[in-house]
Amino acid sequence: MTRSLIRELLKLTRRGNIISFAGGLPDPATFPVEEIKAITAGLLEREANLVLQYGPTEGDARLRDELVKWMAKDGIHISRDQVLVTLGSQQGLDLVGRVFLDPGDLVIVELPSYMAALQVFRSYRAEMRGVPQDDAGMRADVLEETLARLARDGRRPKLIYVVPDFQNPSGVTMSNDRRLRLLQLARQYRTLVVEDNPYRELSFEGAPPPPLAALDREGRVIYLSTFSKTLCPGLRIAWIAASVEFIGRFVTAKQGMDLCCPALTQAIAAEFCAAGHLSSRVGAIVERYRRKRDTMLTALAREMPPGVTWTHPQGGLFLWVRLPDGMDTERLLPLAVEEGVAYVVGAGFHADGGGRNAMRLNFSFPSEPEIEEGVRRLARLVQRNLPSAVRAK
Ligand SMILES: Cc1ncc(COP(=O)(O)O)c(C=O)c1O
Repeated sequence: MTRSLIRELLKLTRRGNIISFAGGLPDPATFPVEEIKAITAGLLEREANLVLQYGPTEGDARLRDELVKWMAKDGIHISRDQVLVTLGSQQGLDLVGRVFLDPGDLVIVELPSYMAALQVFRSYRAEMRGVPQDDAGMRADVLEETLARLARDGRRPKLIYVVPDFQNPSGVTMSNDRRLRLLQLARQYRTLVVEDNPYRELSFEGAPPPPLAALDREGRVIYLSTFSKTLCPGLRIAWIAASVEFIGRFVTAKQGMDLCCPALTQAIAAEFCAAGHLSSRVGAIVERYRRKRDTMLTALAREMPPGVTWTHPQGGLFLWVRLPDGMDTERLLPLAVEEGVAYVVGAGFHADGGGRNAMRLNFSFPSEPEIEEGVRRLARLVQRNLPSAVRAK
């Protein structure tokens, strides 16, 4: 099955009778519609000449000041000139690729890793090396072996790309020890770290360990974050935090892309933060997603046949299901869609062609009754397609 066929199949999931665990969409009930209406009306009333005009490439100064404050609560202490506003973190990833990657450059990624980041790195013709995850994040021993082996071959990766908090796709969080070790190894092997962190706020059980950017003393970490999951993705407000030198290079690259992010959406986001809405609303979003995660975990435990395992994310939007060896989630997807349920196949998140027996499930978008029914449909399908060796156990 080709990738485009998968896309066609996923389009079918927009039909009413299919329960989709495939997307990565926030629950629209979390969107602050009234606040955005009021803020937008006020801005157009008071400063239409500014918010309908071009703005600086670096981003709206008020928003950057708010972002500096927002990051300080996580121990990232930087100044406004170390922040660049981007059109979603997706643009941030593309800027990283544009500035740092030449064809044939090496990038270390997690197995599994965020699919659209792999796509960006591939588009700059980088070569990817995967390092597997366990339940404490990217394995430091394998990372060390990989870096040492590459060094023996005279090769040095340009970047190590990680999503340390409630990762997309696995939901796994990197332990504090692994974070410290990763930074040590990055220093030893003189490579940069890209920390992509859209989910940090969506923590169901207390704060995750400090971000790599807060532990970094050398300007080695390029930090990406976004309001897509805490405010709404439609405003496309995200940012890169990095050394002044790197921000300068990103600004030059961004000028050639879009000159600047929309002034209006940046002003809305700045006012939203300044009014305290962001911090006051996150709790309710987390509560909603925690309930949905619990519903999915309970349904999986009740419905799935033996031999199927899954992660227990402490936050974020996703969990990761592994079927018994030999099962192929890509082959099963058309049958799942027929059954009225959809997921994302695991192989797309693997830079090394692995993950064939895995799938990513999203729990933020479907309702709780849909989660229950969707897992029931999925479990029925898995049960029917179990390899005979597993069924006999
Ligand atoms: C790990 C990761 N990085 C980046 C993004 C892109 O986010 P944005 O909406 O800010 O472009 C996502 C979105 O799901 C993500 O999961």
